[in-house]
Amino acid sequence: MQIPMSSPDLTDLERQAVLAVLNTPILSMGAQIKKFEQTFIDLTGVKHAIGVNSGTAGLHLCVRAAGISAGDLVITTPFSFVASSNALLFENAVPVFVDIDPHTGNIDPGLVAQAVKDIVAGGKTADKWLPRHGVEQKESPKLKALLPVDVFGQPADMDSINAIAQEHHLPVIEDSCEALGATYKGRPAGTLGDFGIFAFYPNKQITTGEGGVVITSDDRAADFMRALRNQGRAPGDTWLSHTHLGYNYRLDEMSAALGSMQMSRLDELLTKRDQVASWYGDRLSEIPGVEVPIIESSTTRMSWFVYVIRLDKKVDRDKLAKRLESRGVPVRPYFLPIHLQPYMVDRFGWREGDFPVTEDLGLRGLAVPFSGVMTEEQVEYVSRVIREEI
Ligand SMILES: Cc1ncc(COP(=O)(O)O)c(C=O)c1O
Repeated sequence: MQIPMSSPDLTDLERQAVLAVLNTPILSMGAQIKKFEQTFIDLTGVKHAIGVNSGTAGLHLCVRAAGISAGDLVITTPFSFVASSNALLFENAVPVFVDIDPHTGNIDPGLVAQAVKDIVAGGKTADKWLPRHGVEQKESPKLKALLPVDVFGQPADMDSINAIAQEHHLPVIEDSCEALGATYKGRPAGTLGDFGIFAFYPNKQITTGEGGVVITSDDRAADFMRALRNQGRAPGDTWLSHTHLGYNYRLDEMSAALGSMQMSRLDELLTKRDQVASWYGDRLSEIPGVEVPIIESSTTRMSWFVYVIRLDKKVDRDKLAKRLESRGVPVRPYFLPIHLQPYMVDRFGWREGDFPVTEDLGLRGLAVPFSGVMTEEQVEYVSRVIREEI
């Protein structure tokens, strides 16, 4: 049996919706994107939703809207997909990493509080949180924002993070690219900070092929991000006049049409993913050497993005991965820590040992095949092969 790593969950009606757009002359910036954006306003209750052509683009718009610029410091997590930190590097800002909670893999709010306190105090106390190099004005670098990530579909501890942010008047950018539809203490992921971002690559909970959405209730920021998405054209600008330095981050109409259809099935899509996660949980939790994901009580709805198990330290992950792959079970190490990516090491001088919890989870985490269209038979096969090969 060959199991796919992930598969989108698409219907014929969704395919027809894309074709219907192709039968019109409007393939960009028409009614479809507005309709798609409205589904996010309806889901989350925020004032503004801005469709973009990737989650990374959405993160970048939030970084610009939060006024983050060269040399500014932003506290974030090294245990994430690289885009959450890259969006800061696009503006030559500096990601200040703090380690994570070992259970959830989300940023540790206690460490965020310490880092904020020390950085605001400045001088030597701030230094221990900063990278070895790559910070230009080391004497008075400015802490500009917090950027937590809802890792693997589980919201970060946002009440604690917001309390710190409020005390120090820092905006919070919640990277919810992996957590569409999740809730934290009953509140939707993405709405828990000042800005939220979702992403729709084909392995995500809903897909538009490529795409993303930013949500915020800040009117001024929303106008600014809409302008930046569209080559910097502010309201009133003509096609060839550009008030701001902008980008082409527009989401096309075909993708938006697909997205609206997928959003109408969000609950169904999440429920199917829940079912697959629960089949895995029943089977994999029985296997010695395998730990299954831990869901916090504050996560009132988990939005399963990937299913990542943790292997016992004694298991050789790479060798196991080869054996699994030879039997038709693809797997991925998840995540390789951001601070140890080669360009991060070059630029900031991070080393192994700097963020031990992140590194430990990074060395032991293994994503197994996962999607809402997996059958119980496929889950049974993957689980049996893991049991036999571990
Ligand atoms: C945490 C996180 N942030 C950002 C992104 C970027 O999204 P995209 O691939 O749509 O640019 C992803 C995508 O996988 C992600 O997982």
